Amino acid sequence: MDLGLLDKVVVVTGASRGIGRATALAFAAEGARVALTYRARRDAAEAAVAEIAAAGGHGLALRMDLSDPDTIAEAVAAVRDRWGGIDGLVANAVRWPDRLPDPDRHFEDVPVSEWTDLWRPNTEGMIALMQAALPAMRGRADGRIVLVSSDVARHRGPGHPGLGIYGAAKASISGLANGLIAELGGDILVNIVAPGLTVTEHNLAAMPQSARDAQIARTPTGRLSTPDDVARAIVFLCSAANGNITGDTVNVTGGI
Ligand SMILES: NC(=O)c1ccc[n+]([C@@H]2O[C@H](COP(=O)([O-])OP(=O)(O)OC[C@H]3O[C@@H](n4cnc5c(N)ncnc54)[C@H](OP(=O)(O)O)[C@@H]3O)[C@@H](O)[C@H]2O)c1
Repeated sequence: MDLGLLDKVVVVTGASRGIGRATALAFAAEGARVALTYRARRDAAEAAVAEIAAAGGHGLALRMDLSDPDTIAEAVAAVRDRWGGIDGLVANAVRWPDRLPDPDRHFEDVPVSEWTDLWRPNTEGMIALMQAALPAMRGRADGRIVLVSSDVARHRGPGHPGLGIYGAAKASISGLANGLIAELGGDILVNIVAPGLTVTEHNLAAMPQSARDAQIARTPTGRLSTPDDVARAIVFLCSAANGNITGDTVNVTGGI
């Protein structure tokens, strides 16, 4: 199947590692020109760009912090300067909670400053990203947006103590998508990819093996998703091969 991505311009936010990095490399392998954003890991983002260049592709590493709208606008402007516009946008970057979920900590005991630090980048930052990117996307053929959510956003799911605020921020993506779908119609297709627990550097460092094993035991496919599993779903939805899917959510969870 031809994904129609040759020379398309795709922005993947949060691509210095994890799902974003795998997604950026997968787009580059299809011939797309890829802008990878990072917040702190510049070296990692530049290493990914070097990997893309070594394979004959085109990448660009740009700093972008969801907490700082100026950096969002600057990153979009840099892509326009380099490549003229944006065909595909993958809103993948995430501000993780500062602390691991603690079942003994009550929801009401989370200080306001802690939850607003988590909430604002993941909600307001996402809106600022759409506002900055859409003018660079309008009027181009095959415009596509993928918003990366999470299984924790589902109102009927396994749920995780201590992840309510992160889950609420992720759930806000559904409302954002609903409005965009109605507004953008067939011009720019908008979909959500919602991974379940994925084997990323972040999770390998943050979660004990016992917690990962418990999740595997509950997963019908008998394994956790990899960043590449998630990347392939994103790349399809963000390609011309996706001809008429908009407003949908693909759960990459192994069926949990
Ligand atoms: N991993 C999972 O199990 C899982 C499950 C469900 C959903 N998801 C979702 O999948 C997406 C990717 O997750 P991941 O596990 O691949 O993440 P990750 O490996 O931790 O990477 C996070 C990326 O976001 C960037 N970032 C961090 N804070 C940022 C900020 N304030 N502004 C802009 N960028 C920022 C990081 O940049 P620096 O490294 O440069 O700081 C990095 O590139 C997220 O939307 C996440 O919610 C992940």
